[in-house]
Amino acid sequence: MKRGNLIDGKGIAGQIKDELKDEIQAWSAESGRRPGLAVILVGEDPASRTYVRGKVQDCEQVGIYSRLIRKPDTIEEEELLFEIHRLNEDPAMDGILVQLPLPDHISSDRIISEIRPEKDVDGFHPINAGRLSTGLKSLLPCTPHGILQMLKRTGISIAGKHAVVVGRSNIVGKPVSLLLQKEDATVTMCHSRTQDLAHYTQQADILVAAVGRLQFITAEHVKPGAVVIDVGMNRTPEGKLAGDVDFESVREQASFITPVPGGVGPMTRAMLLYNTVQSAKERG
Ligand code: GUN
Repeated sequence: MKRGNLIDGKGIAGQIKDELKDEIQAWSAESGRRPGLAVILVGEDPASRTYVRGKVQDCEQVGIYSRLIRKPDTIEEEELLFEIHRLNEDPAMDGILVQLPLPDHISSDRIISEIRPEKDVDGFHPINAGRLSTGLKSLLPCTPHGILQMLKRTGISIAGKHAVVVGRSNIVGKPVSLLLQKEDATVTMCHSRTQDLAHYTQQADILVAAVGRLQFITAEHVKPGAVVIDVGMNRTPEGKLAGDVDFESVREQASFITPVPGGVGPMTRAMLLYNTVQSAKERG
């Protein structure tokens, strides 16, 4: 049985972190300060707590100063905005990240829009999204940028290839399709309501699955030799972490495939650190 090569997201993320560590050391020696990241966690959601803990640990590993700000899920939107405004003005903070999702009574759009775009290390602010879509320099959303880095560092060529993106979110689907276009791929965007999805996905040289549904992409969706990137973070009925791709069957079709866990996730985390360093360097 032929099996596609694994794309080692964890390993590549480790490489990027090592590079950043050196870069931070050099920059800190010159500037006399460390890059700073503020992470805001509202409420007690276990998954969010785990993600946030990981982000703070990553910062420690590479030499970024991090500040975790925890708020109860009863916090008013105005109070959270006050916190954002305070961090916008704090010279020690180069990046501000508000862990999503937020409680229903708070507008994520409003909160994100109030972060200064140059400190928006998630790349979610409408100014950064607009800059990306018009081809201007911007802080890039971490998961799409991580996917691009993973492809490049694995030696997978993108130019001229047909990339099919399944999922149209602002966080992954839309920006990754823009980044792949910028790399001269021909991009088709599909989503959970696409009719005859396999018709499109079977034409993909590079298939990005970002719908958030367990085992949504099966072997029948995949052209032999395709590169398959799985952005999903779902739980199986047994409680195990699993992606949007039916890994075992799809691996037999693919030339390269990302595992879950150990694929896109670590890359997303690494690119958050990258954005924080970029922001520190821009701000001086
Ligand atoms: N929640 C799940 N993914 C993310 C992310 O990339 N950034 C933020 N801020 N919250 C998230």
